[in-house]
Amino acid sequence: MPFVRIGSETICYEVGDSNAQTALIPIHGSGGSSAHWPHELTAIPTLRVYTPDLPGHGRSTGNGRNRVEDYADFIDAFVTALDLRRVILMGHSLGGAVAMTSALRAPAWLSGLVLVGTGARLRVTRAILDGLLSEPEKAVDIICELLFGPTATPSVIESIRARLLTTDPRIIHGDFYACDQFDIMNRIGEIICPTLVISGAEDKLTPPKYGDFMCGRIPGAKHTVIAGAGHLMALEKTADFVAAVSGFSAALQATGK
Ligand code: COA
Repeated sequence: MPFVRIGSETICYEVGDSNAQTALIPIHGSGGSSAHWPHELTAIPTLRVYTPDLPGHGRSTGNGRNRVEDYADFIDAFVTALDLRRVILMGHSLGGAVAMTSALRAPAWLSGLVLVGTGARLRVTRAILDGLLSEPEKAVDIICELLFGPTATPSVIESIRARLLTTDPRIIHGDFYACDQFDIMNRIGEIICPTLVISGAEDKLTPPKYGDFMCGRIPGAKHTVIAGAGHLMALEKTADFVAAVSGFSAALQATGK
């Protein structure tokens, strides 16, 4: 797995082998890692995919953050370190909040946004927030009950649960705390880059209603709702998910962006 040094942190990332000029940076959600994205994304011919483990997550060293703005600073540093010039940011849940925060800063390198299972406000239930500090295993069980739709396979559920149980609960808590503080309901309409919103029809953490809200306010945004999918839609309904991202990328390319 390649890595890049950013300040005192070593950031590990997966990279696809396409030579496409446009980079796709998928940003995982709370307590996650690059393993929360399907490898099939790297088969999209119009995109070169760079999937980081956020600081303190997966195989990256360093500290997690507890503010969405700080993760957006990290993404900016990651883009700069890899010298990427044209980037689609794709964020899941917390990662979506990070991607929207980056988009509000309107960096020159940003050409598109994909917002996956996320919202303009991400209040978190106390059972998760408080539970992660007092009874982490029970909190992970609650998270897993909310993460998946009805057709998620046992192997996906078990692998995600096992990864969460081996992640420092303080890191997961920092991520959920950052979500709980996040609220750009009044600023979402300031995002001006081309945007695709993807929701899981059965998502209990960030229901399609959150996607409707973002899509209704970001000019020109499109909304794809994946039938039967829960919050981890990219792993639950991979073919539908990759088709949506691929279609968005092709449409962007057709308009020269
Ligand atoms: N986009 C659109 N609407 C939103 C929204 C968003 N991002 N966030 C909240 N709302 C809506 C809610 O649906 C609700 O609408 P309603 O009154 O028509 O039912 C209203 O705004 C108020 O909701 P909320 O801000 O969530 O406050 P709350 O005090 O009622 O509930 C929680 C707080 C944490 C209990 C609740 O948000 C919840 O159960 N969340 C889901 C579980 C979770 O922890 N998700 C984590 C996401 S990372």
